[in-house]
Amino acid sequence: MKERDGHPMNHADNGSNARLWGGRFAEETDARVHALNASIGFDQKLVLEDIDGSIAHATMLGEVGIISPEEAKAIVAGLKSLRADAERGALTYQTADEDIHMNIERLLIERVGPVGGKLHTARSRNDQVALDMHLFVRRAANAAMEQIRALQAALLKQAEAHVETILPGYTHLKRAQPVSLAHHLLAYFWMLERDVRRFCAAHAAADVSPLGAGALAGTTFPIDRRRTAELLGLAGLYENSIDAVSDRDFVLDFMFAAATLMMHLSRLAEEFIMWSSDEFGFVELPDAFATGSSIMPQKKNPDVFELVRGKSGRVFGHLLALLTVLKGLPLAYNKDMQEDKEGLFDTVETLDLVLGVLPPLIERLTFRPEVMRRAVEQSFANATELADYLAARGMPFREAHAIVGRLVREAQARGVPLQALSLQELRAASPLIAEDVYTALDPVRAVARRTSFGGTGFDEVRRQLAAARTVHGSRPCRAGQTG
Ligand code: ARG
Repeated sequence: MKERDGHPMNHADNGSNARLWGGRFAEETDARVHALNASIGFDQKLVLEDIDGSIAHATMLGEVGIISPEEAKAIVAGLKSLRADAERGALTYQTADEDIHMNIERLLIERVGPVGGKLHTARSRNDQVALDMHLFVRRAANAAMEQIRALQAALLKQAEAHVETILPGYTHLKRAQPVSLAHHLLAYFWMLERDVRRFCAAHAAADVSPLGAGALAGTTFPIDRRRTAELLGLAGLYENSIDAVSDRDFVLDFMFAAATLMMHLSRLAEEFIMWSSDEFGFVELPDAFATGSSIMPQKKNPDVFELVRGKSGRVFGHLLALLTVLKGLPLAYNKDMQEDKEGLFDTVETLDLVLGVLPPLIERLTFRPEVMRRAVEQSFANATELADYLAARGMPFREAHAIVGRLVREAQARGVPLQALSLQELRAASPLIAEDVYTALDPVRAVARRTSFGGTGFDEVRRQLAAARTVHGSRPCRAGQTG
C-alpha cells in the first residue's frame, strides 16, 4: 500500500461487519483483495475535494427537506471539522474502508454519531468520485495556467533584453538564416500560450457537475442538482446520469494538455542543453540551477533541463495508460476507473515540479551574444540574402539559387564566408552584383529586413513583443475564475 501526503494509516482489517457495505457478506474480505482493491493509499489526495462535495450535498439535502435542517447542520459541522483536521494531516485512514469516500463517511459517523449515516442519501460513490475528480482537475488546470504564465514572464523578460541579439536560426540543425534571439524565445511564448488555451479547455470540461447521477440512474429523492453545482461553483450539469459517472474525458483533456506542454518544455530543454554545451556555448546556466560531477571537477551539467526532457516520458505514458484503461469499458462505472488517479496525480506533481523550476532558471540564463554572432558570421546563413539580392534585381530566383550555391561551394573550399569573396569574384558569378552586395550580406541587416508580419525583423519583433505582453497581461481563461 502506497502512502502519500504523510497521513497516518491503520492497515488492520476491522472485520466484515465494520465494512460500510458489509451487510450482504458472510465472509471477511481476503487481505489480498484489500491490497488490490483499496485506493485510500493514493485517493486520500482527494480528501478536500471529497469533503467539499459532501458539504454541498448535505447542504442541499437539508435545503430540499430530504434530511432535516438540524441533521444537515450537524453533518456539515462534522465535515468542516474533518476538513480542518485534513488540512493539518491529522486524519487517520484505514485500508478496510477502501477509499477516501468511505474513510470520510466513517470518520464523520464517529464524530457526529448515526446522523452522519444520512450523508450518503441520494448519492453513490460513483457520482461522488466523479465529482471529486472534476474538482481536482479544475483546480489543477488553474494551477497549471498560472504557472505557465510565470514561465512566459521569464521568456518575455529575456526576449526584451535580446531583441537585437542575433544568432543562427536552424533548420535540420544546420545554420539556416540569422534571427533575433528574442524572436526565437518568443516562439516558446506562443507555444505556451496554446498550452494555456488547452488547459482552459480542460478546465471547462471539468467544470460540470456529475453529482446527483447516483450510481448511474439518478435518484428517487427530490434532489436539486443545480443547487449543489452552484454551491461548488461548477458551471454546468451532466445531462445524462450514465454519462456523468462514466466520463473521464475531462481527465484525458487535462492529461493531453499536460503531455503537449511537456513536449514543448522538452524541446525547450533540449535546445538549452545544446546551447549550453561546450560546442555551442550560446548560453551559461546559473550555478544554482546546474549540477556537478562526482568525478570530473570541471563539469557543470544541465541536469534540470535533462530532467524536464526526461519527465515528459512519464506524462505521455499516463495519458496513454488512461486511454487504454477506458477503451474497453462498458457503461457505466467499472472499478477499472479507479486507475484514473495515480497517473493524474503524478502528472500534476510533475507539472508542478517542472513549472516551478523553469521560470527562475530561464530568467537567470546568461546568453553569449558574441558567441552567437560569431556562429552567424562563420556560416553561410547569409546565402539566402545573396539569392534574394539577385532575385530583387530581376533574376529568376531559381537561377539565383544555383549561382549562389556555386559561390558557397567555392567559398567553402577556401574556408571563408561569402562576404570574404572579392567584388570581382562575386561579379564573375553575376554582373548584377554591385558594391552594395556587402551591405546585403551583413547579418544584422539580414535580420532587420525581415519585416513581414511575424518575421524576425527587429521592429517586427518589437511589435510581437508588445502583442505578447498584451496577451500575457490578460486573464488566461474566463472559466478560470472558479475552482
Ligand atoms: N475508489 C473508487 C474509485 O476511485 C470509488 C468509486 C467506487 N464505486 C464503486 N461502486 N465501487 O473509482
